[in-house]
Amino acid sequence: MRPAGRSQPRISILDRVFVTRPTILVTGARGQIGHELAGTLAPHGEIVALDRAHLDLADEQALRSTVRSIRPAIVVNAGAYTAVDRAEAERDLAFAVNARAPGILGEELARLGGILVHFSTDYVFDGRAKTPYAEDAQTGPLGVYGASKLAGEQAIAASGCASLVLRTSWVYALRGHNFLLTIRRLAAERDELKVVADQFGVPNWARAIAAATARLVGCGPRYLADRAGLYHLSGSGVASWFDFARAILGPVDHPRLTAIATDQYPTAARRPAYAVLSDARFRETFGFALPHWQTMLSDCLLGRE
Ligand SMILES: NC(=O)c1ccc[n+]([C@@H]2O[C@H](COP(=O)([O-])OP(=O)(O)OC[C@H]3O[C@@H](n4cnc5c(N)ncnc54)[C@H](OP(=O)(O)O)[C@@H]3O)[C@@H](O)[C@H]2O)c1
Repeated sequence: MRPAGRSQPRISILDRVFVTRPTILVTGARGQIGHELAGTLAPHGEIVALDRAHLDLADEQALRSTVRSIRPAIVVNAGAYTAVDRAEAERDLAFAVNARAPGILGEELARLGGILVHFSTDYVFDGRAKTPYAEDAQTGPLGVYGASKLAGEQAIAASGCASLVLRTSWVYALRGHNFLLTIRRLAAERDELKVVADQFGVPNWARAIAAATARLVGCGPRYLADRAGLYHLSGSGVASWFDFARAILGPVDHPRLTAIATDQYPTAARRPAYAVLSDARFRETFGFALPHWQTMLSDCLLGRE
């Protein structure tokens, strides 16, 4: 019997998962990164992967009750409103999904003692830098999408939960909606492709991002909690959209690729001219990093793991 007055030792979710497999909730499970996560995370816990139809991030009550019933040790929030141009006209929805939902997840996980792993974007920056952005560089989003993602980072910080916020950039895969698939489709339809050559960033393969995320998650909730913070998870090198298109198509004569300036391709949302993320903090903290963007692209195109 416990002596009167002595409080019961507190066992948190972090302690319990050392003896049982942690429950890991993945949101946005049909997205580029979310889809890959369901596979890469499987060895590391009991995975509950929910797509938009089963967990709408814009529905606050659904979000709170789902987290309360599943009681995950870790939530990997791969769901997001990612339509950069449409966001200019759908500000409320973009903020509900990208800003309010991560804050709610953070609040619920703070109550449970769980960890939030969340993805953010290079579009939190204004692109006026000339060298890779560090995590603490001044932010200045140019559009609604970037602003909503920055607000998401701030909501997570305010929630008080332990979190890893991983900013990444120019995500592609062989499924979903992305630049790689668009270029391939247009190459089959047209004789000439005009591609912006004065915006620079780093293309990142969704599967490589998911594998890196799984490597972190596999180290356990305590490891993640000890290293909570904001990190840039992005490959090395730098490319323009034109460089990326050339690498996707390879040295073919058809279609003809023509380099154009941003102002020759008007879009609803402005995009940063330079959005390269420095991975130094991630590399120093975790001892590994994503490969060069060209290595990731050839792995993706050749179907390597
Ligand atoms: N894509 C990029 O270039 C890029 C660059 C930098 C950072 N990121 C960040 O990386 C993360 C993953 O992006 P991704 O490339 O995998 O994006 P994605 O392929 O567009 O996937 C996002 C997923 O979120 C889902 N979603 C949208 N609204 C939702 C809602 N209300 N409730 C639940 N799910 C919802 C989408 O569902 P549907 O399939 O039903 O639409 C989609 O499956 C995001 O945080 C994104 O901001 C992406």
